[in-house]
Amino acid sequence: MILDRLRQRFQAALSLVAGQLSQAETAFTKADAESYASMVRPTSDPQFGDYQANCAMPLAKRFGKPPREVAAALVTALDVDEFCHPPEVAGPGFINLRLRDPFIAESALRMLGDQRLGVGPASPVLRILIDFSSPNVAKPMHVGHIRSTVIGDALARTFRFMGHEVITDNHLGDWGTQFGMVIYGFKHFGDEESLQTDPVTELSRLYRLVNRVIGYHNAVAELPAARQAAAEASAATESARQAVASGEPAAAKKNQKALTAAVRKESATTARVAEIEASLAVARADTEFIALASAHREIATSVLTETAKLHRGDSENLALWQRFLPHCRDEIDRVYRRLDVDFDHTLGESFYHDMLAGVVTRLRQAGLASDSEGAVCVFLDGFDAPMIVQKKDGAYLYATTDLATLFYRQQRFSPDEILYVVDTRQGEHFEKLFAVADRLGLSDLRLRHVNFGTVLGADGRPFKTRSGASVGLESLLDEAVARASAVVCDPERSAKLTPPLDADELRSIADAVGHGAIKYADLAHHRSSDYRFDLEKMVSLEGNTSAYVQYAYARVNGIMSKGGVDIERIADDAKPPVLDAPAERNLALTLLRFGECLEQVRADYAPNFLVDYLYDTAKAYAIFNDSCPVLKAGDETLTKSRLVLVALTARVLRQGLELLGIKVIPRM
Ligand code: ARG
Repeated sequence: MILDRLRQRFQAALSLVAGQLSQAETAFTKADAESYASMVRPTSDPQFGDYQANCAMPLAKRFGKPPREVAAALVTALDVDEFCHPPEVAGPGFINLRLRDPFIAESALRMLGDQRLGVGPASPVLRILIDFSSPNVAKPMHVGHIRSTVIGDALARTFRFMGHEVITDNHLGDWGTQFGMVIYGFKHFGDEESLQTDPVTELSRLYRLVNRVIGYHNAVAELPAARQAAAEASAATESARQAVASGEPAAAKKNQKALTAAVRKESATTARVAEIEASLAVARADTEFIALASAHREIATSVLTETAKLHRGDSENLALWQRFLPHCRDEIDRVYRRLDVDFDHTLGESFYHDMLAGVVTRLRQAGLASDSEGAVCVFLDGFDAPMIVQKKDGAYLYATTDLATLFYRQQRFSPDEILYVVDTRQGEHFEKLFAVADRLGLSDLRLRHVNFGTVLGADGRPFKTRSGASVGLESLLDEAVARASAVVCDPERSAKLTPPLDADELRSIADAVGHGAIKYADLAHHRSSDYRFDLEKMVSLEGNTSAYVQYAYARVNGIMSKGGVDIERIADDAKPPVLDAPAERNLALTLLRFGECLEQVRADYAPNFLVDYLYDTAKAYAIFNDSCPVLKAGDETLTKSRLVLVALTARVLRQGLELLGIKVIPRM
């Protein structure tokens, strides 16, 4: 990779220059050289060359020398002549580097001939376990589950391609309260016949019904306190208002601030009351529901009892669980098939049940766990609340299972790294988990919470339908496919292709673009930020969308088939491409950066770097396509030269999309 190579050369130069300039006793270490060398980056503006180093400025401070002098010394020591033009020092001490065209051209040709596109193999090869998707089953999958599934899958594919040993594990929530809910639901409201004929619908009906009854009773219980809070907030606003009206001028600013805070609190508490009242009004309009809810006042406790019985091995509940689980698995497997995601292992929470008592024993023996108010807790420095590993009633918790899972994974897989691709809101859980791991001496194992933000609706709140229920994942996928079909499969477009697209092709295009759109839009944002779910934008052919990149691939592919290019062979007897046109050079250079962008994905566990890169590549190709005719170049040598760039574009786009889990379409 070019960036690696440049950084290595800088490291050497840095060590040399440090020896000359440093008067201080403190040694300039290899790690120092590495860290300054990492300041070599691609430029954002081509007028500064292709790469730029800004390490002369901090170094100048360190050595007490003028930055331009340090930069000049570095340039003298730098040995990059065989692939760069003489480096230039600019401004306060930037070092600008411009690659030589023959080097770019030869590298591009070599990349085209390499199955791995010049990437890896990783050194050292790490064993990376990725815990992702991990939905709580027995309740319907919703759009929130997309993120973990899509991000985790993209990371797994990318790290594997880079040469690491990746193990994927779906830590299925198959043992939690939601099973207590469907067990309770089945015992009281279940329909044996529906369970046999359409189990998924029946289970989902039971889950929703029980959830609704619990929600209703919670709302009834919460209302008085919510009203009280709203009344207090409104009184507080009133007195804050008076303070503003009659207070000392000196306190005016403070009083105004207090009033703003009070108003905000008042509006939040009133909104909460309105929300509860509205939900109760909806419920009360449904007399049948109210009758049912009134007959099940203790439902929340009963659900916990059913869950506890299941965990204790009660034969009736265990039998129901065994009956329900396969259907839950079928349902999520259908989604995984549609998304083209699979796992090496699916070891759900239930798998660890028998190990939980041992976890508590191990923690006690290590002197980490102690009894507190009847529960078993691990107290950790830096946290307000302890990690509870066993409740007063003997029940184990999510954290206990995660510890068991960690011990098991360590034993069975000896990974170098475990990634948990889980919602940001579980941040504290993982901080505690990692702190316990650390205290148990697992510090060699790198544990990372690869957190992600929330999917928002058009209103900026967590994505929900109008009725308030989360949007089912499958219906969302269906809608994306339907919209994609409307955008990319219109008869006018497909008639222009020879031969015109047939029904099968149209269907697979709509599938690839629809599913691709959802994945791409999710991956396009840095995982830690929230994003708005907007299907219309997602399936558009314009802008940073999968359809745009997929379309670029289809165009590239079209040229290759018209030109009779065999992509597997073309590198064998091709010459390095001519890069006289700026668009040719820019495309070639962009293509060469494929490996660099994968390194970025790896460093930050963030697939959006790959998305951005593919978008840049598709744009660089569009500019090339506009200004550099290929088959009609009018000169056979030039056509051949440009076909090298076209073929490499095809390979990079296809490989890149594949690493995101997105399919390419030969024509569209
Ligand atoms: N099932 C959990 C949830 O839906 C996510 C599990 C993530 N993985 C883990 N090892 N905790 O919130």
